[in-house]
Amino acid sequence: MCGIVGYIGNKTAADVILNGLNRLEYRGYDSSGIATIENKSIKISRAVGKIKNLYSAVQTEKFSGTVGVGHIRWATHGKPSEENAHPHTDCSGKIVIVHNGIIENYRQLKKELISSGHKFRSETDTEVIVHLIEKYYSGDILSAVKTAVKYLKGAYALGVISQDNPDVLIGVRYDAPLVVGVGEKEFFIASDIPALLPYTKKFIYLSDGDIVELKKDSCKIFDISDNITERKINTIEWDSLMAEKSGYKHFMLKEIMEQPQTIEDTFRGRLAVEDINEFFGEININPQTIRDINKISIVACGTSYHAGLIGKFLFESLSGISCETDIGSEFRYRDLIIDDKTLIIAISQSGETADTIAPLREAKKHGAKTLSICNVMGSTITRESSSTFYTRCGPEIGVASTKAFTGQLTALHLLALYFGIVRGKITKDLASKFIDSLIQIPHEISEILKKENEIKSIAKKFFKKSHFLYLGRGLNFPIALEGALKLKEISYIHAEGYASGEMKHGPIALIDENMPVVCIATIGRVYEKILSNIEEVKAREGIVIAVAT
Ligand code: F6R
Repeated sequence: MCGIVGYIGNKTAADVILNGLNRLEYRGYDSSGIATIENKSIKISRAVGKIKNLYSAVQTEKFSGTVGVGHIRWATHGKPSEENAHPHTDCSGKIVIVHNGIIENYRQLKKELISSGHKFRSETDTEVIVHLIEKYYSGDILSAVKTAVKYLKGAYALGVISQDNPDVLIGVRYDAPLVVGVGEKEFFIASDIPALLPYTKKFIYLSDGDIVELKKDSCKIFDISDNITERKINTIEWDSLMAEKSGYKHFMLKEIMEQPQTIEDTFRGRLAVEDINEFFGEININPQTIRDINKISIVACGTSYHAGLIGKFLFESLSGISCETDIGSEFRYRDLIIDDKTLIIAISQSGETADTIAPLREAKKHGAKTLSICNVMGSTITRESSSTFYTRCGPEIGVASTKAFTGQLTALHLLALYFGIVRGKITKDLASKFIDSLIQIPHEISEILKKENEIKSIAKKFFKKSHFLYLGRGLNFPIALEGALKLKEISYIHAEGYASGEMKHGPIALIDENMPVVCIATIGRVYEKILSNIEEVKAREGIVIAVAT
């Protein structure tokens, strides 16, 4: 989840862009950059780390142009570094772009562009876009952009400027957010409204496939079929904080609602089961290593541990590899039986959890292979693992993990699937069917999120209860643990998650007419069993809240 700002008008572009980038800080960033057109040439500055680093660079170098683009980067392809920070330029250095999104077919495009002589300077997927524009450029930047984007697969919001077309700022939107801010003899583009609120309250929401050509006093929008089109100008009444939360009351709620998008981003470009080598290339593991291992050991904490418990089911059933999952802070104090045939998978949203880092280090001492599933590129866990599979959820600002959890589950499904294919445990045909179901999940989650009113009415009924139980079996047992954890940390209500088969071994004594029991009863192998557990709860007059298919 990167952020883009662009400006064309009479103000100093660098001031507007830096201010805008600063206001997009909540989207998370590890580096930032800016480019403007100064006396008919392009001037660029990029910095790793805090935006204040970019501020200092811009102040020293004195940017005074009135057209420009800027970017805050949350790394997804290539580590956070100055070379990988945007803006990126073509070989001539005359065309400049900033990009938010993921280009799925960048490896293929990069190969083709390199073989036709283009020189790449970064490890990003973004750089292919600017070289493609260069390839189709013959004096008209708008038409080059229009042609180039036809070759892109994936999600992209772009800001483009070019030295030879100094009076034009181009924006493109496809499956990634981009708004146009409308001012007096000036226009803006940005990934999100808060970036521009000090300058305008008037916004145009672009539709997917739109390309906008902005000049100081004109705005031309071309739709996906290249027809000139009109889009409504909306006036925004939100204050900046409301706008940062996209109108939601809390960041956590916003992040819950983002899940259909973050899941899709996590599997985007990673579903081509025919191309095994491509997949293992991305995670930087030799497929032979996966054939050779005889055990997977997952380590993680909190919510990531719960994702790891589900990972155990997936690796055993899809990949046929024996798997155990441990809490990070416990694992390090065990007498470990691991060796170079063990693959340690560390799962962490932040990549900085000390209790997960320590076991990773310990496992390396025993010669184990290491892989991490992580959301933050360049974090300690990713640096200390031999390879990393990134979730692409964007920063999690609400402290409780929500979208990171479902991103981790998506990553675990993909890894288990590919491990299964490479080890001959599942056929590519079966994997394709599995992927067909995976692709439906964002839509299904959207449908569930529409039930907000039903969920609120249940919450209103039970919020004064002091204790809750969560029950699940099989894959749904870790989900029960995660549900109980969320209730505890967000509502301060005591909650326990149990494997429902364990009820009769003691905890059933807790159930009476005051105990709400959340039973996860989705259709599957153990459906009949959970139904009989529900009967047990009802026999004790417990209150059943069923999460059912
Ligand atoms: C719960 C939560 C924590 C984290 C745990 C691990 O909502 O957020 O339990 O899951 O602290 O953090 P990461 O995944 O960053 O290693």
